[in-house]
Amino acid sequence: MRSVIDILDLSKEEIDGLIAVANDIIAQPEAYAEKCKGKKLATLFFEPSTRTRLSFEAAMYELGGNVIGFSEASSSSASKGESVADTAKVISEYADIIAMRHPKEGAPLVAARNATIPVINAGDGGHNHPTQTLADLLTIYREKGGFNNLTVGLCGDLKFGRTVHSLLNALSRYEGIKVVLISPEELKVPDYVKSDLLDKCGIPYEEVTDLESALPNLDVLYMTRVQRERFFNEEEYLRLKDSYILTVEKLALAKPDLAILHPLPRVNEISVGVDNDPRACYFKQVRYGKFMRMALILKLLEEAGK
Ligand code: CP
Repeated sequence: MRSVIDILDLSKEEIDGLIAVANDIIAQPEAYAEKCKGKKLATLFFEPSTRTRLSFEAAMYELGGNVIGFSEASSSSASKGESVADTAKVISEYADIIAMRHPKEGAPLVAARNATIPVINAGDGGHNHPTQTLADLLTIYREKGGFNNLTVGLCGDLKFGRTVHSLLNALSRYEGIKVVLISPEELKVPDYVKSDLLDKCGIPYEEVTDLESALPNLDVLYMTRVQRERFFNEEEYLRLKDSYILTVEKLALAKPDLAILHPLPRVNEISVGVDNDPRACYFKQVRYGKFMRMALILKLLEEAGK
């Protein structure tokens, strides 16, 4: 059974296909309004979410399907000790496809190994968030016309930010990509991401601590929040949480066609004044996420013969 746990579970050609379908849904949504009639999506969210859960649900409704699920572990039998493996077997009896978020890295993979229906990872701990990456890729595609030869800056919590790790994996497959990693020393991209991905794929990258000096060279700036929920020490979080704040004044240093992305939620790292700048793409990114999730649900259900 085909599941998507990591963005690399999808080939570059399959991502191109999903982008083409998402663009077609945007152009003619009525053509997709009954594609999932009679089908059920189960949203199993063991960790809080606004965008991912509700965009999955909106996606399924806009495909004419139905949704069941829970939005917190405490309202599921996980609170009584039921395993992820058993939960996946049970939900396979009720639904046609699962979207799962879990605080433990690897939990959606365990679910996929035990389910008899496709499982989509909707975010696992500090590990992966492939459907956020699909939203990011459609945003970059629509803003920049493609992915090759872009200089992409990733700024903020590059240690715990699962969206950063997934996006770097996806971008590593395109030609001429350059990466600028902007973070405090304490929140640098983990060494395994550098050695197993950036070095292995021969992607030029630099690590810097200063956003202002990096800004002028960037085509895409991917801002991220410091991930409070992954810190063991509250004092350390408070010290680092406002490391970077993108303001209207700082944007004067950037290219006129910079695309500013953020997976959201935003805490303080982009000032509200930036929202009115035409380079701010993060609310469009939210919208595109729904269309990419629609395209992915369609693909996985079709492959499963449903
Ligand atoms: N970007 C994202 O995953 O947002 P939520 O946590 O609200 O789903």
